[in-house]
Amino acid sequence: MICELSLSVTDIHKSYTDIAVLRGVSYRFEPSRCYALCGANGSGKSTLLRICALIEKADAGDVIYSTDDKILPHDINLKRTMTLLLPNVGVFNNTVYKNVAYGLMVRKKSRSEIDSITNEALDMVGLKEKTRQNALTLSTGETARMGIARALAITPGFLFLDEPTNGIDAKNYELIKDILLKIKSYLKTTILIATHDIKIKEQICDTVLVLHEGRIADEKV
Ligand SMILES: Nc1ncnc2c1ncn2[C@@H]1O[C@H](COP(=O)(O)OP(=O)(O)OP(=O)(O)O)[C@@H](O)[C@H]1O
Ligand SMILES: [Mg+2]
Repeated sequence: MICELSLSVTDIHKSYTDIAVLRGVSYRFEPSRCYALCGANGSGKSTLLRICALIEKADAGDVIYSTDDKILPHDINLKRTMTLLLPNVGVFNNTVYKNVAYGLMVRKKSRSEIDSITNEALDMVGLKEKTRQNALTLSTGETARMGIARALAITPGFLFLDEPTNGIDAKNYELIKDILLKIKSYLKTTILIATHDIKIKEQICDTVLVLHEGRIADEKV
């Protein structure tokens, strides 16, 4: 894991079929902090998350990751230190255990390491008794928690969450909140959450960013 990962985005532009979605987004994300990204439907939150997570390229502008002021190349090592968690996307037709262990298998961890980390992550999100269940049969709240366990297992330097509490009840919200607060304080992960959820902004995030007319229009610390 790369610790203390900073991210600077500078003058990011992105258009889809001539519609300019992002029109000059600039911001520096400091390590170990949690940011909420707010804004109207269609304002470009998910687009910005994909660009920051290096899944999609901006038309113009820079996405610069650094640690100890050393700029990191956009290579597989950097990509493996971050996770973008989308609601209900990327659930494999396999057990909950295999879904959570997948990122560790890809990273060629040993069998015993995979086993202990996966079980610990499942325990942390309260899914230990669901280990052998097919992940496609989980409830919405359980699926959200499994996604976080999967992210947690790889101890990311940067965690991107897209609407993590959509369709989540109060009990699952509290569980997710506790897990995110733990990730923030113990793993020193920088977290960026696209959300409309006022509770997330107030209870989990240090800074609230508002995306409006293609730019970060407001920042509340
Ligand atoms: N691959 C794509 N092709 C064409 N248009 C796209 C594509 N991805 C996003 N868009 C458009 O870009 C705009 C911003 O979409 P985005 O999903 O980033 O918004 P959002 O702020 O996440 O919205 P929401 O709050 O509804 O999730 C929308 O008008 C969307 O239709
Ligand atoms: Mg979105």
